[in-house]
Amino acid sequence: MPVIRPATAADWPALWAFLQPTFAAGDTYAYDPDSSEADIRKVWMDLPAATFVACGEQGQVLGTYYLKANQPGLGAHVCNAGYVVAPVAQGQGVAAAMCEHSQEQARALGFLAMQFNLVVSTNERAVRLWSHLGFATVGRLPGAFRHARLGLVDALVMFKTL
Ligand SMILES: CC(C)(COP(=O)(O)OP(=O)(O)OC[C@H]1O[C@@H](n2cnc3c(N)ncnc32)[C@H](O)[C@@H]1OP(=O)(O)O)[C@@H](O)C(=O)NCCC(=O)NCCS
Repeated sequence: MPVIRPATAADWPALWAFLQPTFAAGDTYAYDPDSSEADIRKVWMDLPAATFVACGEQGQVLGTYYLKANQPGLGAHVCNAGYVVAPVAQGQGVAAAMCEHSQEQARALGFLAMQFNLVVSTNERAVRLWSHLGFATVGRLPGAFRHARLGLVDALVMFKTL
């Protein structure tokens, strides 16, 4: 099981090493594939309520997630989270561990539910994993994601009461 701890500024180069190719691929997140390091650092490290890293036995960073309110004010009791696992560490339960951890953190911060706004329907591993972890698909947004290879594909809204 990975050790999951708050991200620090010193972690950023290791995070950027796999966040950059993940977003540049244009198949899972809506961030502009050409986003600068500064732009992504801001959305991943600075704007969220919390950012965590999952580390392996040697302390190497295997994955990361952020947690933030999904809406201001009257919608702020629902949180949003985003997860990325380094390609070399995928398929070993890192995302599952981070998602369980994020739900505990969210509860501790007072959030009552967690919402994923734009789960790309073709991202089958993610859809299956979030479903296994108790997230319901509450909506399907037709053509809402401009996939870099496939063109317009549907996106799912997924929701779990905490
Ligand atoms: C989607 C993503 C986060 C999944 O991360 P991951 O660490 O590979 O996911 P996990 O290993 O926790 O789970 C994947 C599968 O492995 C299984 N698994 C869990 N523990 C395992 C273990 N110890 N050994 C082998 N497989 C395991 C899980 O049950 C899951 O099976 P399922 O697909 O049938 O549900 C990762 O592929 C990624 O970062 N993709 C790019 C960014 C992205 O898509 N983020 C999500 C956006 S919504």
